[in-house]
Amino acid sequence: MTALPKSIDETAALLRKQDYVAERSLATALFLALKMERPLFLEGEAGVGKTEIAKVLARTLDRPLIRLQCYEGLDIASAVYEWNYQRQMVEIRLVEAGGKASRDDLEKGIFSRRFLIKRPLLEALDHGSKEPPVLLIDELDRTDEPFEAYLLEVLSDWQVSIPEIGTIRAERPPIVVITSNRTREIHDAVKRRCLYHWVNYPDATRELEIVRCKAPEAPERLSREVVAFVQKLRGMDLFKLPGVAETIDWCKALTALDAVALDPATVDDTLGVLLKYQDDIAKVRGPEAAALVTQAKAALAA
Ligand SMILES: Nc1ncnc2c1ncn2[C@@H]1O[C@H](COP(=O)(O)OP(=O)(O)OP(=O)(O)O)[C@@H](O)[C@H]1O
Ligand SMILES: [Mg+2]
Repeated sequence: MTALPKSIDETAALLRKQDYVAERSLATALFLALKMERPLFLEGEAGVGKTEIAKVLARTLDRPLIRLQCYEGLDIASAVYEWNYQRQMVEIRLVEAGGKASRDDLEKGIFSRRFLIKRPLLEALDHGSKEPPVLLIDELDRTDEPFEAYLLEVLSDWQVSIPEIGTIRAERPPIVVITSNRTREIHDAVKRRCLYHWVNYPDATRELEIVRCKAPEAPERLSREVVAFVQKLRGMDLFKLPGVAETIDWCKALTALDAVALDPATVDDTLGVLLKYQDDIAKVRGPEAAALVTQAKAALAA
């Protein structure tokens, strides 16, 4: 188990050791979230490293990662707990066959922890005396409001109540990272309990550092040109701009094709790694891509 970082610099260094290149403001938010034992709420475009931060955090602090992937219709049975009906049925048969236990005893027996299936939220709270895990609540904007209201309770009191058993309370709160792609606004009351950080696209310097970490096999010149190209591309009016994930993928793809620098023809042929909408690809392919290649190379030469 690694101790929590004691400063912003130490936080950034811990992330960097796991190949995560964080901007200063993110390292600050994370440092404070850890120190104040508050959830970290991350919003931002797709593929900018929101989910990754929870994974890296769990690895670097040597804590288990518990992930709750949100979706429409997510309910308590999938997010918090569920009774193990099959095992309860078997138990009832066994007790009946034995013929000794009273109805009350039987009921108490089958609604005990032994028959409880813990789902991510309960698992994250009920960690006993072990170091609290990292709880990733991913893409919260995909759930509906009733679930958000429920989550609010959990985040406020670090407890869940199970009618048949009682209240289960975390001895120490888990380290919580919540992400959202902002397909809808998350309720203010949830945000109020968290520290908020908007994850931006990285600037060229940071994106190059990320590429060097994540695609070390790519030739230096290629990486520089790719980053410069993507940075220019993000200035265009596209339906869906490429995230960091796409930059990394593109570097890997071009390296697999033995490219050592960008050229318009190869760019045209591999645009599908970077852009995922036909309209965007049609807009960029050809003269636009060639112009961007020229601009990227000029920017690097300058
Ligand atoms: N700052 C960074 N340092 C290192 N790697 C990064 C960084 N940002 C993004 N990445 C890489 O980009 C990829 C995508 O990141 P991630 O899945 O966390 O994005 P996301 O913001 O959760 O996207 P989505 O909204 O689509 O889920 C990961 O493989 C991650 O390694
Ligand atoms: Mg994600």
